[in-house]
Formats: sequence, structure tokens, C-alpha cells
Amino acid sequence: MKGIILAGGTGSRLYPLTAVLSKQLMPVYDKPMIYYPLATLMQAGIKDILIISTEQDLPSFKKLLNDGSQLGIKLSYQVQHEPKGLAHALIIAENFIKNDNFAMILGDNLFYGQTLPTNLLKAANRTSGCTIFGYHVAHPENYGVVEFDRAGIVKSIVEKPQQPKSHFAIPGIYFFDSQAVGFAKNVVLSERGELEIVDVLKQYLTKQELNVEIMGRGIAWLDTGTHADLLAASQFIETIDNRQGLKINCPEEQAFRNGWIDAAQLKAIAEPLMKSGYGAYLLNILQETDV
Ligand code: TTP
Repeated sequence: MKGIILAGGTGSRLYPLTAVLSKQLMPVYDKPMIYYPLATLMQAGIKDILIISTEQDLPSFKKLLNDGSQLGIKLSYQVQHEPKGLAHALIIAENFIKNDNFAMILGDNLFYGQTLPTNLLKAANRTSGCTIFGYHVAHPENYGVVEFDRAGIVKSIVEKPQQPKSHFAIPGIYFFDSQAVGFAKNVVLSERGELEIVDVLKQYLTKQELNVEIMGRGIAWLDTGTHADLLAASQFIETIDNRQGLKINCPEEQAFRNGWIDAAQLKAIAEPLMKSGYGAYLLNILQETDV
């Protein structure tokens, strides 16, 4: 299973912050935003990951994350010249995906919760079709909305419906088999000028190969599209971090806990980071590996 992080886009709702800096490089409390989706893919056991971003921002992502070997993973990078939509990103990732199954996560989406690994591993272990999630939100009209029955059979998916048929929004993590690329090529530009991911999902639905899993109330799903969202996400992360003394979506910790890097490698990452406290946290993990 491979992974794709979509870290392009315009970030236009965050102007002027995004005038010179990609939103996925902005801090969410103590880490660059992209660390969160990266750690989520790693939590799903995914090591081979493509980061898609703009021509301007890709060098910064490379500088931050290199080839991933320091985390025991393999990172590659690809430019999306224009933000033509999430389905467009699938097309440009064709050579990376080849015939493999993959997860695609939005670079500005944050997931956290004890039951998350169960959700992710169930989706990752499905060998064919597509798995999306349903997450109960107060304002479904702002999202792609999924309607399904008690057996989890999807009845409809609608992008930003005026009258939503359910309260279940589709969060920005999708598990696909390799049919997704072909389906993306069938999609035509929407009114807002994008190749929409819901039009890929609808093709899976027609073939009865679209699965939906509920992400329950124990899971936090935050996105960081607006200034208020960005601040709320930082405050949420800080609250949990301060209370528990455990970091949320820390890729270095995840790599160590997955057994992808050893104690010496974790120590080598930690030592230059002592001043910020991030390094001290990583070193502490070595003494306390049962948390
Ligand atoms: P959006 O929420 O559409 O974000 P955006 O960056 O385009 O900003 P806005 O709508 O606020 O102007 O996209 C969600 C994520 O997907 C975000 O991390 C950017 C990324 N993305 C791409 O990588 N390529 C694309 O073509 C699009 C539309 C988004």
C-alpha cells in the first residue's frame, strides 16, 4: 500500500498568510501542518509516500523531509502546476500508483483518536474498491456528504448539498485501489473548474465498490482551511499535549513505535531539537516505551 499527501492548492482562505508560505508548512502548535497527515499515513503502516505540491513550495517540503530515510520511510515528490482538483492529483500520480492500492490524504487534514488505527487498518486491509469515512459534523453543507444505510451501503454522495441527507461528512482521507486513476480520467471539470474527487467516488458507487466506515465520536477530525480553523487546531493540539504530555501525530515517534527506526536514529533526530522541547520529548520516549 502506498500513500499520497496533497499539499498543493491555493490556500486562498488563508491569505495573506499563504502569500509566501504554503499552508501545509504552517505551524499547528508545535509542528508543520504536513507532519499530521504524514504521521496518519505512517499509523496506517504506509512507508512509500508521494507528496504533491506546487512548483514554488515543493523545494521547502523536500528541505523539511528529505527522502524520508530519517523516518524509515520513502518519500517522493511531484509538482502539480495548477490546483485543478483532488481527482487531477490522482492523474498526475499515475506513475507512482502503478497497479498498487493507495491512501490519499489531504495535507491540511488532522486526525486524532484512540480508535483511528482500527479505522485505518480496516480500510488498508481491503484489497479492492474504495473506502471512505463518514464523520458526523454540525454543518454537513460545507462538505462532501455521504448517505448510507445501517449495513454501511452507500446510497448517495453529494458535494456541499444545500439540503444534506445526512450529517456525515467525508473527511480528507480515502483508500483506493488502482482503478482510481482510470476513474479520475473520466471526470470532467466542475463549475468551480476542478476535477472533483466525488466524481471518482461516484464511479466506485456505481460499481458497488464504495465502502464507508464510520469515524466515531472518539476521533477528532480537524481541517485547517480558515484562520479560525488553524487557530482552533493549534489550541486543540496544545490542550491535549499539555494535559497528557504526549504529542499528537509526531512522525518521529510514530517511526520509532512502528519499529522503522531504532533508538540510535531517534536520538540522532532528537539531539539538535533540545531547545524547543521537541527533542526532549523524543528522548523521553526512549525511556518510556510502554505508553
Ligand atoms: P482545498 O480545501 O481546496 O484547499 P486549497 O488549498 O485549494 O484552499 P482554498 O480552497 O481555501 O483556497 O484543498 C484541500 C487540500 O488539498 C489542501 O491541502 C490543498 C490540497 N489540494 C491540492 O493539493 N491540489 C488541488 O488541486 C487542490 C484543489 C487541493
